[in-house]
Amino acid sequence: MKPVTIGILGLGTVGGGTATVLQRNAAEIARRAGRSIELVAASVRDINKKHSAELNKVKLTLDSNEIVDDPNIDIILELIGGTDLAKELVLRAIKNGKYIVTANKALIALHGNEIFEAAQRTGVTVAFEAAVAGGIPIIKAIREGLAGNQIEWLAGIINGTGNFILTEMRDKGRDFMDVLKEAQELGYAEADPTFDVEGIDAAHKLTILASIAFGVPLQFEKVYTEGISEITRADVEHAGELGYRIKHLGIARRVASGLEMRVHPTLIPHRRLIANVDGVMNAVLVHADAVGPTLYYGAGAGAEPAASAVVADLVDVVRALTTDPGNRVPHLAFQPDAIQNIEVLTMDQVETAFYLRMQVQDQAGVLADITRIFADQDISIEAIVQKEEKDEQDCVPLVILTHNVLESNMMVAIQKIESLVTVTGKIVRIRLETLG
Ligand code: HSE
Repeated sequence: MKPVTIGILGLGTVGGGTATVLQRNAAEIARRAGRSIELVAASVRDINKKHSAELNKVKLTLDSNEIVDDPNIDIILELIGGTDLAKELVLRAIKNGKYIVTANKALIALHGNEIFEAAQRTGVTVAFEAAVAGGIPIIKAIREGLAGNQIEWLAGIINGTGNFILTEMRDKGRDFMDVLKEAQELGYAEADPTFDVEGIDAAHKLTILASIAFGVPLQFEKVYTEGISEITRADVEHAGELGYRIKHLGIARRVASGLEMRVHPTLIPHRRLIANVDGVMNAVLVHADAVGPTLYYGAGAGAEPAASAVVADLVDVVRALTTDPGNRVPHLAFQPDAIQNIEVLTMDQVETAFYLRMQVQDQAGVLADITRIFADQDISIEAIVQKEEKDEQDCVPLVILTHNVLESNMMVAIQKIESLVTVTGKIVRIRLETLG
């Protein structure tokens, strides 16, 4: 059979890794795809930059449009990142009848609904496994492997950079900025690393996971997002003493009143497998009605883990080239006309447990005042620990864990406790999930 021809848009970390894997594993990949795959062109930012030997026979260009418009190219690998140019190129390639593989989570989270509609109209496929959790085949697992289930919830460590930072801070007492710099040098971090640290990258990925898990449209704007930049070593230590680890989780949960989509630092019991996922590794825990819990673990960032997912998509797409467009695996797992809107809950409608830390005066009646406020808001306490070390105002840290509570009730309680004269400063609050 005639080889399939591909063009790569962008030879950065993922593009370079993909070219390497395609060449190194060419024979195995062809045995799986049923045809050989030929990388014929790639667009680059700097044509004079020295590229690796496997690109010797590849036509390099500064203009991605040349590749998108080339009638001799069957499949486009969009690996430039960003949303504006990437969207323009992908829509143009689809119009030209080309199949697409992309690692671009922002593109899919923000413009996926429009892109998939265009692809469906033209009868082509847009594959995006590498967009979520790097090398872990989580899209395929949920979309195909769990197709018989009703998914109840999923929770994931889906940003390698953030997990790397939290792990190094906890284990080695390293400084936040120092670890971030290393993540950038290793090619893990986004072009704008605040996307990693503030949870935007995780929110892009959660948008995609929620959509394929629950058959809802992609709705990035409805994901609640909170970053890790305010997590202190003190909270990491207190959490550890109480048997918890702090992880930056993306959580999507279907409850009777709607759908939760949220990214925030979360205390989880240290005995859970996912609590022990460290460094740049990612993991996604999926709870579904028939199978129960399943956990997917692997490298969430880096050149070759991402390339692994890109090439797997490429093999899928090559196999799909000769199939009936109406009978392919739907982009978002559910048939396009069966995608439904489920109300996305705002955070004040969400129920979670909480870790609270506050500075209080060490005197009679303080605890009684605090627990009365909790009781008034229907908040049940799971544990209270008062630390001995006094600060310059003679106050001691009080750490409280609560049972599940409606977030709106907790916010009222926090406000009331902060206004007590025996409590100084702001209360630190981190949500807690048992993931049971
Ligand atoms: N910046 C991302 C991360 C890369 O750290 O997980 C993979 O999407």
